[in-house]
Amino acid sequence: MAIPQEFISELKMRTDIVDVISSYVKLKKTGRNYTGLCPFHGEKTPSFTVSPDKGFFYCFGCHVGGDVIGFIKQAENLDYVESIKLLAQRAGMTVPENTADSGLSRLRTRIYEANRTAARFYNKQLYTEEGREGLRYLRGRMLADSTITHFGLGFAPKSRFALVNHLREKGFTKAEIIQANLANETRNGNPIDRFTDRVMFPIIDLRGNVIAFGGRTMIKDFKPKYLNTSDTPVFTKGNNLFALNFAKNEANGTLILVEGYMDVIALHQAGFRNAVAGLGTALTPEQANILRHYCNEVILCYDSDNAGQMAASKAIQILRPMGLDIRVVAVPDGKDPDEFMKTFGDQGPARFRMLIEKSGNDVDYRLDKLRSKYNTELTDQRVSYLTEAARLIATLDSSIERDVYISRLSRDQGVSKEAILEQVNKIARKNSAGAAKREFRELKKQMTSESSAISREKYVPLGSARAEEALIALLMNNEDIAMEVIKKVSPELFCSPLNRRVYEAIKGNAEKGYDFSLTDISGGFSDEENSRIAQMLFSHTRENDPKRAAEDYIRKMTDNSQRITPDQVASADEDELRRMMEQIKKKKA
Ligand code: UTP
Ligand code: MN
Repeated sequence: MAIPQEFISELKMRTDIVDVISSYVKLKKTGRNYTGLCPFHGEKTPSFTVSPDKGFFYCFGCHVGGDVIGFIKQAENLDYVESIKLLAQRAGMTVPENTADSGLSRLRTRIYEANRTAARFYNKQLYTEEGREGLRYLRGRMLADSTITHFGLGFAPKSRFALVNHLREKGFTKAEIIQANLANETRNGNPIDRFTDRVMFPIIDLRGNVIAFGGRTMIKDFKPKYLNTSDTPVFTKGNNLFALNFAKNEANGTLILVEGYMDVIALHQAGFRNAVAGLGTALTPEQANILRHYCNEVILCYDSDNAGQMAASKAIQILRPMGLDIRVVAVPDGKDPDEFMKTFGDQGPARFRMLIEKSGNDVDYRLDKLRSKYNTELTDQRVSYLTEAARLIATLDSSIERDVYISRLSRDQGVSKEAILEQVNKIARKNSAGAAKREFRELKKQMTSESSAISREKYVPLGSARAEEALIALLMNNEDIAMEVIKKVSPELFCSPLNRRVYEAIKGNAEKGYDFSLTDISGGFSDEENSRIAQMLFSHTRENDPKRAAEDYIRKMTDNSQRITPDQVASADEDELRRMMEQIKKKKA
C-alpha cells in the first residue's frame, strides 16, 4: 500500500509548490516567500504564506500548514495516496502499480468512472425518443438548453435495466455498480437501476468528479419527489454542496445558500452563479466548514414556509460561530428562488438583486422573528421581548455590533439605551463566567486525553518545547549539521511526543540517505500534525551560526530538569493544574 519513499522524493523534486498552489490562490512574491489569501479560512488580508525554499505553506491566521501533498489533500479533500496521484499526473509521473491502485483507492476510482459514464448516459437520453419527456419537463421549468448542458442534467429511462446494461457493456462489474449506488441489489444478487423515470441532477465535486445523483420524479405528488444517491465510498451527503464546483470560482467572498437543486440552477441561470445548496439535509458543520473556505459571507435564502425558516435558524446557529457574516433573504409570498425567477421572468434577476440588497443580517432577522412572537403593545410582553433580545445581543462578540442593536432596540421600543446596556452586560458577564469554567474543563480534558497528542504536548515546559522545535527547524534547513546531530542525539531527549516522532522520522530518512524535506516525512503525520510542523518551520528563522545554535538548543533540552510530564498533568487536580499553568506563564514571561 505504501508508496516508495524514492518516488515521493522525486515527485517532490519535480513539483514546484508555488506553481501548484497558484492554481488555487493568487500569490504575490514578498521577499523569499509568497503570500495570498488563505483558501482554508475566510480572510481579507493575506496571512497565507508559501516558502519555495522550505517546500511548505503555512497560514498565520488559521495555522493550517504542510507540504505540497498536504495542500492538495486539504484543498481537494483527497486522501494521501490520491493526492500523490494527482500531483504525479501533473508532473507526468506514474505512481508505481499495486500501491496506489490497491484497495479502497481503486474502488473509488472505478466509482468515479461509473458515475461519469452514467451521467453521460442520462444526459444522452434527453435527446432520445423516450427521454424527450424529460427534456420537455426541464424546458417546462424554464431551463435553457445551455443550462441543461452546463449542469449536465439528464433523464433516467423507465426500464429497470437501462443503466445497468449500459454499464455492464462498458466493463463495470456488478459489485462496482452496486457500490456506486447506481443500482440496487435484488434478492438474487442482481443489480437493477436505482433511478428510473426521473430527471437527473449530477452532483460534482471540486475536481469535477461526478460523485452522486439526485433524481426528480416528473409525476405530481409522487414520493419521494427527489431520490438521491445514498452514501458511497466517494460520497457523504453531509460533506458536500450542490454546485460548489461552479460557485467557488464566482464567490468573491459571498455564497448564496439555498435549499434545492432547482433553486441553485434557476439562480445560476439568472446570473447568481455563487449559489449552492445542501443535499436535502439540514446544514451540517462539515458543510459550514467547507463554505468557510470559500467565502466570508453567506446569504441564506431558504423557503419562507415554516420548515424553511426553522432550517434557516439552525443554519445560522452553525454558521455564526465560524465567524461568517450572514444575511437572510426573505423571498415574498412563500416562494422559493426558482419560483421567484419563474414568476418574474426578465425582471427576476433585478428583483432578486434588490431582495439581497435590502436583506438584513442574521441579528436583524432573529430580532424580527423574536418580536413577532410577542405583542409589544402589552407591557409584560414587551419586557419579555426586551429580555430575550438582550440575551441575543449579549452573544455578539463585537461591542460595536452590540451598540448598534442596543441603539436600534432602544429607539424601537422607547426604552433607554442605558437600561438595555445594563441588561446585556449582566447577561454577558454571566455567559463569560460560564465560558471560563467550560474552557477550564475543556483544557483539563484535552490535557488528559490519550488521543490528543498535540494538545498534551502544549503543556510540556515551553522552554524545552521551543528548543526542540527550533532544533527540528534547524535540522530541516541544514543538512550537514543534521547528519552530525543525528549521530549523537537520541529521540529520548525530546519530551514532546510529536517532536520526538518528527525527529525520529527525519533521523530515519537521513539514515536511509534521503533528503530531509518535510515531504519525505509528511505521510506519517495527520493534517493537524503537519500543520504544527509547518508552524515550527515558519516560526524559526535561519540562524547565523547554525552549528552553535544547534548546540544551544540541545543544551537547553538536556538542562531542562524541571519538566512537567504529560502524566503529571493527567493526574493533577484543578489546583495543581492551575499552579502548573502559573509556572508555565512565569517561565514564558
Ligand atoms: P423541496 O421540496 O423544497 O423541493 O426540496 P424543490 O427544490 O423546490 O424542488 P422542486 O422545485 O419541486 O423541483 C429541497 C431539496 O431537498 C431535497 C432535494 O435536495 C431538494 O432539492 N429533497 C427534497 C430530497 O432529497 N428528497 C425529497 O423527496 C425532497
Ligand atoms: Mn422549488
